[in-house]
Amino acid sequence: MTTMRRTLSGIKPTGQPHLGNYLGMIKPALALQQTREAFYFIADFHALTTVRDAEVMREQSYELVATFAALGMDFERHAFFRQSDIPEVTELAWMLSCVTPMGLLERAHAFKDARGRNQEINHGLFAYPVLMAADILIYDSHEVPVGRDQKQHLEMTRDIAQSFNRVFGETLVIPEAVIGEEVATIPGIDGRKMSKSYGNELPLFSTGKQLRKAVMRIVTDSKTVEDVKDPETCNVFKIFTHFASKAAQNEWAARYRAGGMGYGEIKQATFEAIDAEIAPFREGYFEIRRDTARMEQILAQSAAKARKIARGVMDRVREKAGYTVGYSVGYSVGTTAG
Ligand code: ADP
Ligand code: TRP
Repeated sequence: MTTMRRTLSGIKPTGQPHLGNYLGMIKPALALQQTREAFYFIADFHALTTVRDAEVMREQSYELVATFAALGMDFERHAFFRQSDIPEVTELAWMLSCVTPMGLLERAHAFKDARGRNQEINHGLFAYPVLMAADILIYDSHEVPVGRDQKQHLEMTRDIAQSFNRVFGETLVIPEAVIGEEVATIPGIDGRKMSKSYGNELPLFSTGKQLRKAVMRIVTDSKTVEDVKDPETCNVFKIFTHFASKAAQNEWAARYRAGGMGYGEIKQATFEAIDAEIAPFREGYFEIRRDTARMEQILAQSAAKARKIARGVMDRVREKAGYTVGYSVGYSVGTTAG
């Protein structure tokens, strides 16, 4: 048994990962692999509330494997797997749903937003926080690196785990959210939170040309070149700060305040700063993205590792609640993938 703390996080296969995902979740999560056991997964069952095409689900899942591989995830020491390859997760989700008050779920931001916009709401969307709690609790996770928008989901996970423990006795590990304050919410090209649902993203892996084009589209105010400008309220500058040294930030901030600097200039500098960080991984990304066999092999090997932990926890949970223990032994992961 490992004594290292376990870090876990999930990301939905809902499109090309963007720089908000990278700064808010992917980069901090990958940094944690130095000191923690890292379990990261593709939240493909969560994506089912919106992705209804098998081919799209498969391809978008591969985007994430290639992304984590290119950025240096160590699959030998850690695990990167599909949520749907671990059936114990949905089993635990049912059990947790039976100790989760409806009122808790009715307070979820995502649910309230959808209802506020008169969107059609399915039960999967309503129960989303319960499945997410199961994702986290099934691996005895200690830490969960996420962007700030996931804070409420983590609080709900803790509430649900405590509620289970109150009913059945100490069973589940209570996890903690790891939210980097300075990267909490990255703005998109229109200034709102960068999100696939707003179509305002800067892509993580695209060609340099596409990245530059996206950076040039970042919305600014209409001040002229001569005008004195405020770096604090400028979206371009906010993004720039995440990729530039402190010295470069100070230098550009002074140029904003002095006047005589056009937004085109800081956009070019921002593109160059992002590109300097991302470009070294680009080729590796495109290479592994083409290698389906390699990606499947990573997923199968990781799922086997994750499933072992999940079964152990599930046995503990089943025992506490009065169900058969050890019934699932014998099922092997990845039998259809060969
Ligand atoms: P999207 O909003 O584009 O659908 P996801 O919900 O799939 O993104 O988010 C995946 C991970 O990336 C989560 O941990 C989330 O907190 C983080 N994240 C997403 N957008 C941002 C952002 N603009 N700033 C910081 N973190 C973000
Ligand atoms: N809800 C997260 C998101 O929208 C994705 C996710 C699903 C997740 N299960 C998780 C994140 C478990 C951390 C831990 O981004």
